[in-house]
Formats: sequence, C-alpha cells, structure tokens
Amino acid sequence: MRIGVPKEIKTLEHRVGLVPSSVKELHSHGHEVYVETGAGQGINFTDQDYEEAGAKILPNAAAVFDTADMIIKVKEPQPEECKMLREDQILFTYLHLAADAEQTQGLIDSGCVAIAYETVTGPNGHGLPLLEPMSEIAGRLSVQVGAFYLQKHMGGLGRLISGVPGVRPADVLIIGGGVAGFHAAQMAVGLGANVTILERSNPRMRFLDEYFHGRANVIYSNLDIIERAVKAADVVIGAVLIPGASAPKLVTRKMLKTMKNGSVIVDIAIDQGGCFETSRATTHDEPVYTEEGVVHYCVANMPGAVALTSALALNHSVLPYAIDLANKGWKEALKDNSNFANGLNICHGKVTHKEVAQSLNLDYVPFKQAA
Ligand SMILES: NC(=O)c1ccc[n+]([C@@H]2O[C@H](COP(=O)([O-])OP(=O)(O)OC[C@H]3O[C@@H](n4cnc5c(N)ncnc54)[C@H](O)[C@@H]3O)[C@@H](O)[C@H]2O)c1
Repeated sequence: MRIGVPKEIKTLEHRVGLVPSSVKELHSHGHEVYVETGAGQGINFTDQDYEEAGAKILPNAAAVFDTADMIIKVKEPQPEECKMLREDQILFTYLHLAADAEQTQGLIDSGCVAIAYETVTGPNGHGLPLLEPMSEIAGRLSVQVGAFYLQKHMGGLGRLISGVPGVRPADVLIIGGGVAGFHAAQMAVGLGANVTILERSNPRMRFLDEYFHGRANVIYSNLDIIERAVKAADVVIGAVLIPGASAPKLVTRKMLKTMKNGSVIVDIAIDQGGCFETSRATTHDEPVYTEEGVVHYCVANMPGAVALTSALALNHSVLPYAIDLANKGWKEALKDNSNFANGLNICHGKVTHKEVAQSLNLDYVPFKQAA
C-alpha cells in the first residue's frame, strides 16, 4: 500500500503522523511511504531521517494526498485537506467529529474512509487505546506544570513541591484517578509531594490503594471531602471523566476562595469543559490566568507542549493498527476486529459511528452496510 504523511498544518501542531521508526517498520512490511518535506521538522526529524527509514519525500501536501492510498495524520483534516481527500482513500487520524459539522460534511463529500483514533476501542470494548497515551502524557505533565507555577515569580505561593529536610512538601490533590490521574499521582509521589487522590469507582480505588500502598491517600470523592481537601491543597489537578458527558463542576468558586493565595489548579479535564467552575480553556501561548488568587492552568491540548514524546507515544499505539490496515486493506482489517471497526466514522459518504450521527443529527449507517 502507498501511505502518505502530510505535514500538520493546524496552528502550533508540531507532531507528525509517522515518525521515521514507524516508517521503517511499514517499509519492512513492503509498503511505500510518502512524506511531505519538513513533516517532522518541528520535532527534529529531518527529510534525510525519513529517507534513511525508506520513505520518499514529496514537495507538498497535494503530492502526498495525490499519491497515497492511506493518509496517516495526527490532527483532524483542515478544510483544505478535506478537499484533497479522494473516494476510497483511507484517512487514519484524530477526528473528533461529534462537535464538528463542517469537517464531517467535508469527509462525507470526499467519499473517503475515515477512521478516528479516538473511537477505536480496546479488547472487549474497554478503554480507548489511541487516546490513552495522551491522557498519560497530560497526567504526567500536570505535576510538572503545577510544580513550575508554584514558584513565586510565576505567581505561585513559593513552595517547592518536594519540600526539603525539615520543611514539608506540597499537598497535591488529584480529583479523578483514571488514566490521567494515575499518571499524575505517580509523578507527584515520585517528587515526594503529599498526594491525595479522590475517586468514585470502587474497583479503581482498590487498584490505586494497592498500587500506591500508602504512598498516596486514596479517598472516596464526595462534596464534603472535596471542600476540605481543596482548602488544604497547594496544587489541585482535575482529571475526572464521565464518558460521553461534560466534566462535572466539582470545585466551585466558593471553594476556590478558601484556597491559599498562589496555590495552583491544573484542569486536565478542560477539553470536556473542565471540572472547576472558574476554568476557561487556555493555550500554550498563554497557559495561565489567576482568579481568586489561584493560578489556573487550563490548556486543552497539553500533549502539544511535549510534541516529541507525544508523537512517539502516539506512534507506538497507532503503528500496529496502521500495519494491519496496510497489510489487509481496511475492509478486512475492520471485519477481523470489531474494536478497530468502532474507529470507522465516515465511509463512502455515510456516517458509520452512531454517536457522531446522533450528535450531528445525521443518518447512521452501520459499517457492514456502508462498506
Ligand atoms: N487537557 C488535555 O490536554 C488532555 C489530554 C488528555 C486527556 N484529557 C482529559 O482528561 C480527562 C481524564 O481522562 P482519563 O483518560 O484519565 O479518563 P478516565 O476515564 O481514565 O478517568 C476518569 C476518572 O474520573 C473518575 N471520576 C468520575 N467522576 C468522578 C468524581 N465525581 N470524583 C472523582 N473521580 C471521578 C472516574 O471514576 C475515572 O476513574 C478527560 O476529560 C480527558 O478528555 C485532557
């Protein structure tokens, strides 16, 4: 199969659909990979690195879209990219169509086969394996960011997250102990902070309790404990998710007023609306603002800050699926794996993902009928 990797054109996106090591792997399976010149330059992968991995470099996106049977990207296609997609061409990338009628229409009009990373499910329908690496990164990054903004000259209260001998460490409160919350807790514990995780799922609390074995307090999340824990915390990390719904506003403005001046909140769940009443989405250009004396970090695409790690982690998750698509063709690959088939969002002008169709008020056509 001919696989195409265009340069990402969304503002401030430095990741790339395939890194050279993934190209090498696909090449070793007998596939041809075409990469737009400069596609990896944002994270220091040169055209030469790609050529050494077996890719052919093309001068622009139009040439890549023209040549490839399958396009592998990171971000959803921008309008000019949608126009370059062809009937029967496979598009494998993040799409997030449920709130994007324009892109959905663009993909419908193209006739392409669009498979979204974010709706591919894990074994037995559990988990979202192509979203998980981004939650892991956001979780780990949240502690780094929290520690940074605790510094006095960054607007913080001037506490070192680890403390020093004789001076206590920071209190880090993590609300939601799922993928992001777990990885945040690992980092915070590693730095020597005093860590509390609030969770609501009993099986998850058991797992966290067993894993941290006293190195983090794992407590059932309710209004009373949130009020008390938020007041005591130096850093609060919001990492809750209720699948298919906006994040619940668990920390109110009134609670925020009880926090110390210069304490920090990191609202990872901001991409689902945020779990703090006072959160509003920020960008890497201007990541923080202060309200009620509390520094707010609410960047909706945190992994973008560590584009190199993000691109590599995403590639490790995506590559087995990409190889499957390239080796078998999309119909066979999806027929063989119903969890992979859950990734199919648009096929030959039909919407093949139920929730996407529902949220955009479009007709839903099951995969087997659309294929
Ligand atoms: N900002 C970013 O750049 C970025 C990056 C990746 C993920 N995210 C977001 O981070 C959030 C968390 O993602 P995840 O993959 O960790 O989800 P997850 O499903 O693995 O974890 C969410 C956890 O929240 C818990 N929860 C639900 N309600 C709760 C409550 N009231 N109190 C305490 N815990 C509660 C659930 O039991 C679950 O364990 C999502 O909104 C996701 O979209 C943001």
